[in-house]
Amino acid sequence: QLSAIEEAKKSAAIACAKKHIPSSGCRLGVGSGSTVKHLVDYLAENYANGSINNLVCVATSYQTKRWLFEANLPMSDLDLTPELDVCIDGADEVDKEFNLIKGGGGCLAREKIVQTAAKKFYVIADYTKQSAFLGEKYKYVPIEVLPFAAEPLLRWLPAREGGSAELRMAARKCGPVITDNNNYIIDWHFDKTTQHNWKETQMRLNNTPGVVDCGLFVGVTDGVFFAYPDGSVQELHA
Ligand code: A5P
Repeated sequence: QLSAIEEAKKSAAIACAKKHIPSSGCRLGVGSGSTVKHLVDYLAENYANGSINNLVCVATSYQTKRWLFEANLPMSDLDLTPELDVCIDGADEVDKEFNLIKGGGGCLAREKIVQTAAKKFYVIADYTKQSAFLGEKYKYVPIEVLPFAAEPLLRWLPAREGGSAELRMAARKCGPVITDNNNYIIDWHFDKTTQHNWKETQMRLNNTPGVVDCGLFVGVTDGVFFAYPDGSVQELHA
């Protein structure tokens, strides 16, 4: 028995998959997180019964790779399959213009690379992720950084961008989270009392020495599937 929120995640994932994954020949970027797990379950069932064939999946994280492997789904990587047809991913927050904050699971750099490699990018989310503006619900922007630059960046980022910054620590280890790319994550808690131009902020962050990428996804979303507690799913387009 799934909770209401898990049911919503599942409905969003299935609605998006049905609409945007062709039954044959799809090169699919598979995002990360608990909403994407429902997408993997859907793919597993439909690939096993032959409703989807000639599928190839490129994972955005170690966890997704494991899920795809356990589900017997065909996998590739960007070396072998550098061009993807569709990428489907979750998000931590989605604003009215379909800009996103991602990286709650620390996979933002690979997620952005896979998203950029895909012709179309769709987001699957439950209603709790829907916001009028970034920061209405979510508190920070995750930033993947080179370990060598972490200490100076913890000072530079708030000094230049306001707010505060903290190194993300691992839950069951006496040390920082290490990403799939062997980097650290800095969570930048931005100031909510000022208005942000997220496109410019993204460019400034990504232009800072030591920053690998940030969890702002601005102007890249082709559609969002929001699922509500009553079981309905709404597809919204940019
Ligand atoms: C991973 O780094 C994130 O960008 C996820 O896509 C995001 O956190 C959504 O995860 P959930 O589906 O678990 O909320």
